[in-house]
Amino acid sequence: MRTVDIIARKRDGHALSPEEIGFIIRGYTAGDVADYQMAALTMAIYLRGMTNEETIALTEAMLRSGEVLDLSDLGRPRVDKHSTGGVGDKTSLVIAPVVAAAGVLVPMISGRALAHSGGTLDKLESIPGFRTDLSLVEFRATLKKVGAALIGQTAEIAPADKKLYALRDVTATVACRPLMAASIMSKKMAEGASGLVLDVKTGSGAFLKKEEDARELATIMISIARGMDKECVVLITDMNQPLGRAVGNSLELIEAFETLKGRGPDDFNSLCRELAAEMFVLGRAAIDPDGERALYDEMIRSGAALEKMRQIIAAQEGDARVLDDYDLLPRASQTHTVSASQAGYVQAIDTEAIGHASMLLGAGRARLDTAIDLGVGLIVEAKIGDKIEQGQPLVTLHFNEEDRVEDAAIDIRNAYTIGEQKVAPPQLIKAVMR
Ligand code: URA
Repeated sequence: MRTVDIIARKRDGHALSPEEIGFIIRGYTAGDVADYQMAALTMAIYLRGMTNEETIALTEAMLRSGEVLDLSDLGRPRVDKHSTGGVGDKTSLVIAPVVAAAGVLVPMISGRALAHSGGTLDKLESIPGFRTDLSLVEFRATLKKVGAALIGQTAEIAPADKKLYALRDVTATVACRPLMAASIMSKKMAEGASGLVLDVKTGSGAFLKKEEDARELATIMISIARGMDKECVVLITDMNQPLGRAVGNSLELIEAFETLKGRGPDDFNSLCRELAAEMFVLGRAAIDPDGERALYDEMIRSGAALEKMRQIIAAQEGDARVLDDYDLLPRASQTHTVSASQAGYVQAIDTEAIGHASMLLGAGRARLDTAIDLGVGLIVEAKIGDKIEQGQPLVTLHFNEEDRVEDAAIDIRNAYTIGEQKVAPPQLIKAVMR
């Protein structure tokens, strides 16, 4: 088999065989298939698509690129959640400690920022010293000790996704159903969870803008999970405006910490509650049938979730004092307010443009080797349905480099639709698929 022939076959719209897919993924992981060849192939897949059979073969090849953990000896249900990506989506940072505090094990393999969306790993690495590159021995030990461990793909586990994820980020090949399904499910099936809750986003800030596309992605991911004997629930959720108010690594971490202290924004806290409730069901953690949401609230109210976050940070060698002193986090040196040019109601927000503005300030990557600025980002001051006056703040930019502000401010102004008609905020949960 030759890589170039496989690229040409996909370019010309043919379905690839499991052998061809396995050959490419093995070669790419080993370094025999070059980045530029993989970039060409992923663009061909983006343009031509893949059948369900190809998607399943790709997931399996990526899963087998590294180790597949068996954590059944830990003796308790192990439940994780994953989001398809959005703007201001920081739910993992709340859910992992909440669910672990209730006694369910949470083995979590997350990703970095992807295109205009943020990534859990980058957010966690805003904490001085925090290690997301634990070895599998350390991952298992941390899980056993504190009940949760949050790592990235490594050379040991999901290595094909580690490389492919970074490549897709900078080659405009993220928003592609088969590539998303294989990326998500290969790492989630490798981490040893017994159950999985998926948050599939749809709307202007999601990779899949249309709800029907989100549902199709959900369907294939559920069938992959079922084929591997894992329980799986999908929530289709709204991404037509940023979740909560903070966008950018340190800023999102602070909003997550505030949520653990019971002071989070309502929309963000509600979504965390719904996702955690599904994880409690899979983890058999609630005491009575309607008790899952109450359990979430209790973990927050009692301080148990905050204490669990302290333990997780310390176990992964981070400085847990950040929970009490946000000045220990990287912070931007300056702020700039983008204000409304007219009065009215916020009717719509182009959420991808908000994510781009944060990237422009330095929160995301433009190339494989771009270093990101963990302190920059933005705070959303006006959300859909809000009544605003002319000159009222829409967004506060947090930045370090002055020359990036003007373009980001233009993105923000263009992102807002303001009109006379009042509109209701979007409904957060659009569907639950089991
Ligand atoms: N999250 C992932 O892990 N992979 C994707 O492709 C998109 C979101």
